[in-house]
Amino acid sequence: MREFLIAPSILSADFARLGEDVENVLAAGADVVHFDVMDNHFVPNLTIGPMVCDALRNYGITAPIDVHLMVDPVDALVPQFAKAGASMITFHPEASVHIDRTLQLIRDHGCKSGLVFNPATPLHYLDYVMDKVDIILLMSVNPGFGGQSFIPQTLDKLREARKRIDDSGYDILLEVDGGVKVDNIREIAAAGADMFVAGSAIFNQPDYAEVITQMRAELAA
Ligand code: DX5
Ligand code: ZN
Repeated sequence: MREFLIAPSILSADFARLGEDVENVLAAGADVVHFDVMDNHFVPNLTIGPMVCDALRNYGITAPIDVHLMVDPVDALVPQFAKAGASMITFHPEASVHIDRTLQLIRDHGCKSGLVFNPATPLHYLDYVMDKVDIILLMSVNPGFGGQSFIPQTLDKLREARKRIDDSGYDILLEVDGGVKVDNIREIAAAGADMFVAGSAIFNQPDYAEVITQMRAELAA
């Protein structure tokens, strides 16, 4: 069976007690911490930076941290996040003038590298860099906010990305971000996703373990 990864987005966590909330969601069965970085420039919202990533590591969080950069420019933050304990760093191709260089920069700093595609961004940015990406992240909402609805056209795009990955022969994770819930995770997996970001679906419920268990049951069905 394929391995599926559940990555709660801490955008919907309680920032006043972030360490504890992240610890709880990991204890509830999450695999990866999804860390949304917004700059009020590339997206119309402002969130957290490397200091918070570093603080989570110092608090004792050892799970992989998946840093989703919604920032422009990108490069200066790569070494800072690598130093702060990021495991994976993904960025939007529109925000980097030299995509190939940024992907290499991320790997050179010991992190897994990835490209993020907005709902209307074509996958052709992948054409010449399949050997330099470890993760392809498809946005299933327009980035900037949690709690939006899954855009159904993403399913076709996931199938297209899955085919590109399978045809390439590279070991690349296919991640999806936005509007993922218990009631749609199965069809998203069927379209080819391996890694599921879910913010509001998990953090807005009192019992994180119950939601994650339900998601895993859907994935196993
Ligand atoms: C949106 C962020 C997402 C967001 C997902 O810009 O990249 O990670 O937190 O939130 P939900 O799961 O609530 O759609
Ligand atoms: Zn995200």
